[in-house]
Amino acid sequence: MAKRGPDRYRHPFMARLRKAARIWGNPKAREIGERVLFAPEGDVFTIDPPAMFGRRAPVEIEIGAGKGEFIIERAAEFPDRNFIAVELSATITRVLAVRCGRAGLDNLRVVRMDARTLVNLMLPDASVSAFHIYYPDPWPKERHIKHRLFTPPLAASLFRTVEPGAIAYVATDVRDYAGEIFPMMLAAGFIRAVEAAPGAERTGFARKYVAAGKPVFSASFRRPHESKNS
Ligand SMILES: C[S@@+](CC[C@H](N)C(=O)[O-])C[C@H]1O[C@@H](n2cnc3c(N)ncnc32)[C@H](O)[C@@H]1O
Repeated sequence: MAKRGPDRYRHPFMARLRKAARIWGNPKAREIGERVLFAPEGDVFTIDPPAMFGRRAPVEIEIGAGKGEFIIERAAEFPDRNFIAVELSATITRVLAVRCGRAGLDNLRVVRMDARTLVNLMLPDASVSAFHIYYPDPWPKERHIKHRLFTPPLAASLFRTVEPGAIAYVATDVRDYAGEIFPMMLAAGFIRAVEAAPGAERTGFARKYVAAGKPVFSASFRRPHESKNS
């Protein structure tokens, strides 16, 4: 039964919301977070990676970056590449932005938005050198399926926006969801790549999940050099 009264606010999710609100309420932390948080500007909000970073470099994007455990490590590991962490939840984005800001990396930015809008409408063709998509919410209930990230149009947009030869890395904890995502990626024109998904065991979710000995379903998908859109 749903909790009522004060106990309701002791739920772990509410505790996380309060923690995120406290972080953003701290002016120093907020100032650090705002350094990396990319805000919409002008009449039309679009994304131009070279303008965001003030340089041209390969761009890697993590969709649903959570609190950034993986992308912060990855951006530190590859200073010659630019990284964009995309996160839908405003609350999680605040924690993510403060963590990314504290990492002090020039090659990492945070964007708060629905990644479906970003990938379907805003990213230029062949502009991304890798997508990282780890543990997207499975939305198991039939009436919530509309919230799922992966659809055939999204797979087609991932294909359109990666450079020929570039890879989309995917991992999920849900076998049935993997059974839907992987064929969708192949139907969009990707081919299976042998490279292991670098974040499959390194995201915040993965660290606890893998430590508990549970199975990961991960795969890497390459856009062929010669393909219909190239
Ligand atoms: C299960 S969590 C996994 C987080 C992280 N990838 C990890 O493995 O620790 C899924 C994340 O995706 C975010 N998310 C869900 N739908 C999204 C969307 N359409 N665009 C961007 N982020 C989304 C959620 O807010 C959540 O932070």
